[in-house]
Amino acid sequence: MTQASAQPRVLIFDTTLRDGEQSPGATMTHDEKLEIAGLLDEMGVDIIEAGFPIASEGDFNAVSEIAKRSKNSTICGLARANFKDIDRCWEAVKHARSPRIHTFIGTSPLHRAIPNLDMDQMAERIHETVTHARNLCDNVQWSPMDATRTEHDYLCRTVEIAIKAGASTINIPDTVGYTYPFESAKLIAMLLERVPGADKVIFATHCHNDLGMATANALAAVEAGARQIECTINGLGERAGNTALEEVVMAMRVRNDILPYQTGIDTSKIMNLSRRVSSVSGFAVQFNKAIVGKNAFLHESGIHQDGVLKNVQTFEIMRPEDIGLTATNIAMGKHSGRAALRSKLKELGFDLADNQLNDVFVRFKALADRKKEVYDEDLIALVADEATNDDNDHIQVKRLRVVCGTEGPREAELTLVIGGVETATDATGDGPVDAAFNAVNMLYAHHAKLQLYQVHAVTEGTDAQATVSVRLEEDGRIATGTSADTDTVVASVKAYVHALNRLIQRRQKTAPDSDVKTISYKQ
Ligand code: KIV
Ligand code: ZN
Repeated sequence: MTQASAQPRVLIFDTTLRDGEQSPGATMTHDEKLEIAGLLDEMGVDIIEAGFPIASEGDFNAVSEIAKRSKNSTICGLARANFKDIDRCWEAVKHARSPRIHTFIGTSPLHRAIPNLDMDQMAERIHETVTHARNLCDNVQWSPMDATRTEHDYLCRTVEIAIKAGASTINIPDTVGYTYPFESAKLIAMLLERVPGADKVIFATHCHNDLGMATANALAAVEAGARQIECTINGLGERAGNTALEEVVMAMRVRNDILPYQTGIDTSKIMNLSRRVSSVSGFAVQFNKAIVGKNAFLHESGIHQDGVLKNVQTFEIMRPEDIGLTATNIAMGKHSGRAALRSKLKELGFDLADNQLNDVFVRFKALADRKKEVYDEDLIALVADEATNDDNDHIQVKRLRVVCGTEGPREAELTLVIGGVETATDATGDGPVDAAFNAVNMLYAHHAKLQLYQVHAVTEGTDAQATVSVRLEEDGRIATGTSADTDTVVASVKAYVHALNRLIQRRQKTAPDSDVKTISYKQ
C-alpha cells in the first residue's frame, strides 16, 4: 500500500456553481453551468453544489440537468430551512446517481434576528427541517450560517439537533471571512469534542476570503478533524470570494509532509477548469494569483531564471504540468488542417462537436492569416469566444469601422442586427471604444450602466488577441460579456453586445426579485 492511500481522505465540495455564481456579475448560462459541472465531475470533485433550486426556474433546471448527467460526483442543491425550499431542492437533485440536500439557517445573534426566532424556536426549526430533508434524501448536509460568530454553546446545541435529525455532514461556514487559522481549528476541535454523535458525521469547512485567510482557515480546520473542504475554482465567490479549490488541493499535495491528506482530484485538470470558469464568469484571474495566475510559474529575474535552469527546485515548489499547464507552444499555423486542430483542442481539454469544430476552424484560419504565430492560449481564447456567439442572440454585430488618432473626432460606424433587422449609425466619442459603445447605445437604447471594462492581451506581441470583459448593471441585474479578437475595439464592442444579450435573456427569464442574486437568506 502506498503512503498516500493510507492517508485520511479529504472530500472536495465545489460550490463554484452556487456560492461562486452568487458573485455579482458572475452569472453563467445554463449550458455553461452544464459544461463546468461536467469538468468538475471529470476532475474528481466529490460533491458539486450545483445551485439554489428555489431561486429561479433557471437554477432549478440547471441543477436537475446537472443531476441527470452526473457520473461520479454527488450532486447537491442548497435550500433554506423551510419545507418549500427543501422540496424544490429534492425535486432537482433527485435525478442524480448520488443526490444531496444542503439546508442551512443563520445561527449567530445577528442572523437569528432576521427571521425573528428565539433560540428555542430556531432549534425546533432545525429539527423539523433536517428531519424533513432526511425523509426525502439519505444524504443531508446542514449548515449553521455565520457559525464562526455563533455562541459556542448554542452552536453545539444546534449541531447536535441536526445530527440527531439525520444530517450526515455538518458544514461550519465562516460566512463573512472573520475567523483566523488557529481559531478555525479550535472551533472544529471543540465541536468534535463536545457534540454527542460528532464522530459519526463528517465536518466540513466553508471559508470566505474577506481577510485573505480562506485557504489557511480551511486547512487549519482539516488539521483539527474537518474532512470536507468547500471551495470554488479561482476562489470565485461573493465579496473577496471563497476558499480556492486549486490552493487547498495543491497545498495538501505539495506539503503532504505536514498535511498528510489525500483528495480524489486529478490536479492536471486544474488549469483548464480555471480558464473555463474565468471565461464563463467574466472574472479574470489576477496575474499573481496562487497556482493559476499567469505569473505563478514565471521567473523574470536573472537569478531566478539561472537557478531554475540549473535545478527547477531552486525556485519552484511544484511543476506547471502538475496543474495541466503546458509550456507556451506555437500551436498551429495557417497550413494546419481540421484534424490537427481537433487533436490540438483535445489536448487542451476541448472535445468539440463537428459543427462547433467547423466554426472554430473557420475562425482559426482567419486568425492565422492575421497573426504570425497562433499559440495554445490563442486557441483557448478563440474557443471561449466561439461559445459566446449564439445565432439566436437578439443583437448581433455585423460591421464596425472606427476612425481614431491624434486629430479630429473619434468616430465609429456600426451596423447591428437587432431582432433580425439590420440597423446602422455613426457616433463620436472620447476614443474609439467610447465612440463604438455610443453607437451601440444609439442603436439599442437601454439604461444599463457600465460597471467594468477590462482588456487583457492573450499572448505577447502587438498582434496579440485581446480578451475584453464588460460588466453591465440594470435594475439590480448584472451581466458580464466577454470577447476576444486581434482588434481591441472589435473585441470591446462584441463583449459589450454579449453583456447586453445576457441582460436581455435575464430580463425575459426572471423578475429582479426572483433572481438568485437578490434572493434573501431570510428563512
Ligand atoms: O457562506 C455561507 O454561510 C454559505 C452558506 C449558505 C453555507 O454559503
Ligand atoms: Zn458561502
